[in-house]
Amino acid sequence: MILGIESSCDDSSLAIIDEKNLECKFYKKITQEEDHAKFGGVVPELAARLHTAALPKLLEEIKPYFNSLKAVAVTNEPGLSVSLISGVSVAKTLSVALNLPIIAINHLIGHIYSLFLEREAEFGLGVLLVSGGHTMVLDIDESGKIEILATTGDDSFGESFDKVAKMMNLGYPGGAVIEQKALNGVSGAFEFTVPLKGDKRVEYSFSGLKNQVRVQIEKLGNLSKQEICDISLAFQKAACLHIIDKLKVIFKQKRFTKFGVVGGASANKFLRANLQKLCDNYNCQMLVAPLEFCSDNALMIARAGVEKYRKSEFTHYKELKINPKLHIKKT
Ligand code: KG4
Ligand code: ZN
Repeated sequence: MILGIESSCDDSSLAIIDEKNLECKFYKKITQEEDHAKFGGVVPELAARLHTAALPKLLEEIKPYFNSLKAVAVTNEPGLSVSLISGVSVAKTLSVALNLPIIAINHLIGHIYSLFLEREAEFGLGVLLVSGGHTMVLDIDESGKIEILATTGDDSFGESFDKVAKMMNLGYPGGAVIEQKALNGVSGAFEFTVPLKGDKRVEYSFSGLKNQVRVQIEKLGNLSKQEICDISLAFQKAACLHIIDKLKVIFKQKRFTKFGVVGGASANKFLRANLQKLCDNYNCQMLVAPLEFCSDNALMIARAGVEKYRKSEFTHYKELKINPKLHIKKT
């Protein structure tokens, strides 16, 4: 059994996978969303304190599995430093106490494995990673080598939803609530320009769109319930079409046979529907993670850990460090 630990942001989560058949034996997540909601974003100091309370509670539940564990996989990059430290400290302690090797997992690689949770991975695919911290298009070859095809120059896709939600006092995180409000929006009530439209650069930018929304909100003053829904709809449309616009350019150049979408924001149904259309046009199979495992979770970390376990890629507890800023190593 491989234990996975995830604590890179505001979710404390543990999972146990059977390395042989990839079956999930245990999975649980304690989210801190409600605790951070009133601040409109994650407060690092609070996140650290809550991880310190939640992780031991989860550990208590996996005690019956202690004797079957073969390794501990833990997210050590990227993320909030004080959050990463919480999970990494638990992993180091278990390593010493139970004499287990540690497997260091990059959180973004973890998200990629959310496409292959209870099955063997099949590489040779394109991936769109959209989360609160990242927006990336990746090309992963058959051997698992990753090329970054596009990234964002400023805010990430999920972050832009969070910021727009904050402007309308909709709490944190903002992705799901904006999507919900958009359902009651009237199409065409507001229009925002799709970022970098007609610009040859194959990259993302969400800060200009966020400002368009800010200016519109300031113009309106106190927003009515309907205006909140209409703005949510118009913003979601522009943000998602921006993602699709640049993907169209990438799809023309790279003939993907499979394309996956991962990360917390990959739960967005409007984004998924538009991506499905694009994939259909190119006869490309679209892969998604189960909705429950789009956002941060330890199952994807344990799953990524299995791959490294099979290659005996371990890190000694004395050597294991956190890298809060490291995204994906160019391989
Ligand atoms: O992957 P994740 O759980 O955490 C990070 O690694 O950042 O992603 C969380 C992000 C948040 O910004 C949240 O607002 C966004 O994903 N998100 C969404 C939706 N659900 C979550 N964004 C757009 N539409 C959604 N339905
Ligand atoms: Zn994430």
